[in-house]
Amino acid sequence: MYFCTKITNDVTWIGVNDRKTERFENYIPLPYGVTYNSYFIDDEKTCVIDAVEIGSASTLLDKIADCLEGRKLDYIIINHVEPDHSSGLKEVIKIYPDIKVVGNSKTIGMLRAFCFDFPEENFITIKEGEILDLGKHKLTFTMMPMVHWPESMTTYDITDKILFSNDAFGSFGALDGGIFDDQVNFDFYEGEMRRYYSNIVGKYGMQVTNVIKKLANIEIKYICPSHGLLWRDDIPKVISLYESWAKFEPQAEGVVIVYGSMYGNTAKMAEILGRKLNCCGIKEVKIYDASKTDHTYIISEIWKYKGLMIGSCAHNNSIYPKVEPLLHKLENYGLKNRYLGIFGTMMWSGGGVRGIQAFADKLNGIEVVGDAVEVKGTPKAEDIARLEVIAEEMAAKLIAERL
Ligand SMILES: Cc1cc2nc3c(=O)[nH]c(=O)nc-3n(C[C@H](O)[C@H](O)[C@H](O)COP(=O)(O)O)c2cc1C
Ligand SMILES: [Fe+2]
Ligand SMILES: [Fe+2]
Repeated sequence: MYFCTKITNDVTWIGVNDRKTERFENYIPLPYGVTYNSYFIDDEKTCVIDAVEIGSASTLLDKIADCLEGRKLDYIIINHVEPDHSSGLKEVIKIYPDIKVVGNSKTIGMLRAFCFDFPEENFITIKEGEILDLGKHKLTFTMMPMVHWPESMTTYDITDKILFSNDAFGSFGALDGGIFDDQVNFDFYEGEMRRYYSNIVGKYGMQVTNVIKKLANIEIKYICPSHGLLWRDDIPKVISLYESWAKFEPQAEGVVIVYGSMYGNTAKMAEILGRKLNCCGIKEVKIYDASKTDHTYIISEIWKYKGLMIGSCAHNNSIYPKVEPLLHKLENYGLKNRYLGIFGTMMWSGGGVRGIQAFADKLNGIEVVGDAVEVKGTPKAEDIARLEVIAEEMAAKLIAERL
């Protein structure tokens, strides 16, 4: 018997903890693991909601067999075709070849593109609002295009008032014992949840806001996402976190300082800025070396704080190579509602500071604070004074917004 946990009398969490995979989507570090959540509904018709990543499929199959106790499996709902959920479906189909696969009009084309081989008549196409009747449990569906794929959707169990929200409200981090929000200390999961949101869903804030509006009229007793914690105790909390992240609303007063530096001169500037900000009353200052800290953590911190200061040495007429991907992602995601300070070093004719300024020019919702500080070589007394000025201006802006 595996770690299967009942959510309600008929609904069981049959997800799998993955502590082996190093990187999610092959680039996002997973030091605390990740879950692929899957759910079993025990009814006249049996149903699984979402599969798991193929490397975890054998555990899922064992759990399904435990739940079925010799019965047949009637349905599997594919809320999202991304392989962290759908690839395990290949194994499910091998064991249950008559299973009906349920998805929307976009789902089947994507499954075929990933070479899923099952008869056309075994696919059930559902539309928004349609009902799949399992007997006691009636399921309905809400499309959530681009949260975070075009075919993404949620399944709602009208009977038990459970929202199976797929990647929406998901989190990194394996479930180490507890599975519900009230069974764990949320402080840890909040960081991993924001890192998940900001890096996976962050570009689609408008679509997230639309989905939350769509779901506002239904009574939700449980939110069961496809990664991480399940929610039953404080559902307004997870919804309000998502609402503010989707609107790029900072959560706390503070400043993220991120820099790229080869010989330590730009790093010195970051230290000066951090010290000055703290002297001006900003308690939460987070300084990151972009060469060392994986950018997914830095992006998560940028989502948290209103203040951002980016520094780069010049590198072949451009931004330092370890800072550039971070800026590319922030631009691609359309970062808004932030104050930005710019600094950096050069020796020939620059490039780092210029690159950050060009990045800032492309983002409408970013307000640049003070004048960019560019230093030739090592910062001297007059450069330190210029740095202190932008730190003071940043602190003043943040303090003026204190409630
Ligand atoms: C590979 C390489 C490329 C560089 N490209 C430029 C450049 O395009 N423009 C410039 O002004 N300085 C350039 N420099 C010089 C550095 O940007 C300069 O020494 C700077 O002060 C280094 O800052 P750091 O101590 O923070 O690494 C380059 C240095 C290296 C090693
Ligand atoms: Fe996904
Ligand atoms: Fe996912």
